[in-house]
Parts: sequence; structure tokens; C-alpha cells
Amino acid sequence: MTAVFGVDIGGSGIKGAPVDLAAGALAEPRYKVLTPQPSAPDAVIAAVGEVVDHFDHQGPVGLTFPGVVVSGHTRTAANVDPGWLDLAAEQRFSEALGRPCVLLNDADAAGLAEVRFGAGRDRRGVVLVLTFGTGIGSALFVDGALVPNTELGHLELRGKDAERRASSAARERHQLTWEEWAVRLDEYLDLVERLFWPQLLIIGGGVSRKHEKFLPLLKERAATVVPAELRNDAGIVGAAMAAAEAV
Ligand code: BGC
Repeated sequence: MTAVFGVDIGGSGIKGAPVDLAAGALAEPRYKVLTPQPSAPDAVIAAVGEVVDHFDHQGPVGLTFPGVVVSGHTRTAANVDPGWLDLAAEQRFSEALGRPCVLLNDADAAGLAEVRFGAGRDRRGVVLVLTFGTGIGSALFVDGALVPNTELGHLELRGKDAERRASSAARERHQLTWEEWAVRLDEYLDLVERLFWPQLLIIGGGVSRKHEKFLPLLKERAATVVPAELRNDAGIVGAAMAAAEAV
């Protein structure tokens, strides 16, 4: 099978690689550039072009976006430049890169990869993947089928957007110890669990690399809580999966 290209667009970095979809792994080491600041569409699209051009790759490209994406249009921009609001972004990428592009929410992409190849494989029922980074992303699955754009990072917690209190960036911003952050995380997971009752909760995002620092501190709950397995590559793999399915 030929590799499909995946690009993960994040608040700080844009990284991409061809993906071996049979293995659910990168086919070559990924290439990363810094996300332009401000992260306005034209600058980000040019940076994505640089990542794709780094490889000798033809064919479709899957891309993640850290906001709501409906039918190729970016609808929110919580952690990126407001220029993305209501943009026909998928079309803009396709035109700029000169090949078919498929755009989806970053947590949805990471979730697709985890459910197919990682911590959620062969799991039926309600599985929720949460990514902790600059924001909190969510991907909800029912018997393996994704309910896109669930945006559970914006549930209200103590009168605020939950991601303002419990994201990985909030931990760094407030210089919280792992113990202090685990209390906030438990409070957030309580809220999510009361509303969605997942059987399996997969904790992803950059911080999942350090899961042994905080997962053992969390209290017992109805859902089984496990770390993501694809870690940093989940977004790239999931983006490529979405592109392969769509074209
Ligand atoms: C955005 C989500 C995104 C998450 C992680 C949130 O602020 O609203 O769409 O998945 O951050 O990047």
C-alpha cells in the first residue's frame, strides 16, 4: 500500500510524515516546523507546504486543525488566529498544495488512530479520547464510530472553560505540581464521566508521555483510564487515515 501523508497542525508546531496505514505508524521520520505566530491562515498554509515539500511524496494529504471542522470549513479558533473562523480551509489547503486535502479536528484525528491502532483497538461501547495540550481536545466513539467535534474541553468547570483549568498548558501556566494538577484533572474527568459515561477513557496529548507522573494519582472511577499509545504520532496517523478514507 502506498503511504498517505499526514500533517498535525498544533499551537506550537506543525509536523508531518508519510504514514504506513497497514502498520498505523510513520513510514519515515517526521519533519517539524514551528507554527507561525500569529497563526494566520496564509502563514500556516505556507508552513504546511514546507513540511509536505520536505518529502518526495505525491497523493492526498490529511491535516489536523485545533478547532471545529465541519465539511472542510473551520468553525472555531480557540487557540489559533481568529482568521480561521468560518474559512473554507480544506479547499484553501487543496489549492495551495495542489493535491486533495482532508481537514479534521486534531483530537478526532488522534482518536481515530488510537481506536484503530492504539489503546482503544478492539474496544466496543463508548470510548472517549481526551488530549491534554494547549487546550483539551476530545474524540467520542461508539462501537468504533466517531462522533466528530465534541469539544469537551469547553465544558464549564468552576465557571470557566475547563481547558483553562485542566489542560497541560494550565499546569505549566500556574506552575502546578503533578499532585495539584491531578486534583484538577480528577475534577474534570468527574464532570465528563457524569455526562457521557465512557467505558474507556484514553488520556492523550503531549503530556501522555509522562503518564506515570499523574495517572497513578487519579482516583478510582467507573471508566477504565489508560494512557494513549501512539503519543506524538497519533494526530499524523489519524490525519492520514481520514485522507485515505475520503479520497
Ligand atoms: C479546541 C478543540 C481542540 C483542542 C485541542 C480546543 O481549544 O476547541 O477543537 O481539539 O483545543 O487542540
